[in-house]
Formats: sequence, structure tokens, C-alpha cells
Amino acid sequence: MNSFVVQAPVQIIVVREKADILTRAGSALKKRDYSLIDIGIASENICLQAEAEGLGSCMIGWFDEKQVKKILGIPAARRVELIITIGYTAGSKREKKRKPMEETVSYNKY
Ligand SMILES: Cc1cc2nc3c(=O)[nH]c(=O)nc-3n(C[C@H](O)[C@H](O)[C@H](O)COP(=O)(O)O)c2cc1C
Repeated sequence: MNSFVVQAPVQIIVVREKADILTRAGSALKKRDYSLIDIGIASENICLQAEAEGLGSCMIGWFDEKQVKKILGIPAARRVELIITIGYTAGSKREKKRKPMEETVSYNKY
């Protein structure tokens, strides 16, 4: 399904490192995995920077993690959370189809 990925000259492999003790304690206390939120923020920043430099990017969440780890020698204890492809877009970018704001944003009440 992601065969287009091989056309991209750059693939950034986003590896989740072990969080420090404070972060782990906070996550356990609040029952929330903050490291995944951090990965989302960092990955989006990479995509925004690529866009700012006139490049295209695509976040890839569907891949064979075992194979990626094997090829790159990533320790078994680490997780590969995302791959971000970067490259020049072929032709013009497709038109964005976004839900209207009224369907995605609410004010003062859910
Ligand atoms: C966490 C995550 C994983 C994704 N995984 C894939 C994927 O494996 N293959 C794919 O074609 N698109 C994947 N996408 C979708 C694209 O990266 C992209 O976000 C989507 O095409 C929307 O692009 P747009 O912002 O230009 O509309 C994923 C998106 C996210 C946020």
C-alpha cells in the first residue's frame, strides 16, 4: 500500500527513545503516554519545515517495524513510531479536502 515511499529520496525514521524518569513518572501518574504526543509534535514540525523549504512530506505509520529495525540496527527495545518521507512533489500538490470548522471546533462546551 505504501509502495510510493521508495520514490522519496529521504526517509526519516522516528524512533521512540526511553523517556527519562520524570517523564515516565508523569506518564504513569496521569495514565497518558506523553512520549507519543512529543513524537507527534516533532514529526509535524519536520513536515512543516519541509513545506517551508518547498518540499513535500508524508507521514507513514504503516510499515514493517521488524524489518526497518533489522535493516538499520535499531535495538529491539526501541519502537519505530513513524517514517517521514521527504522529497520534491511530482507536479502540483493535490487539493486539500478539510472538514468545515463547525464540525471540528467547539467553543466553551464539547
Ligand atoms: C500518524 C500518521 C500515519 C500515517 N500513515 C500513513 C501511511 O502509512 N500511508 C499513507 O499513505 N499515509 C499515511 N498517513 C497520511 C499522510 O501522512 C497524510 O497525513 C495524509 O495524506 C493527509 O495529508 P494532507 O495533510 O496533505 O491532507 C499517515 C498520517 C499520520 C498522521
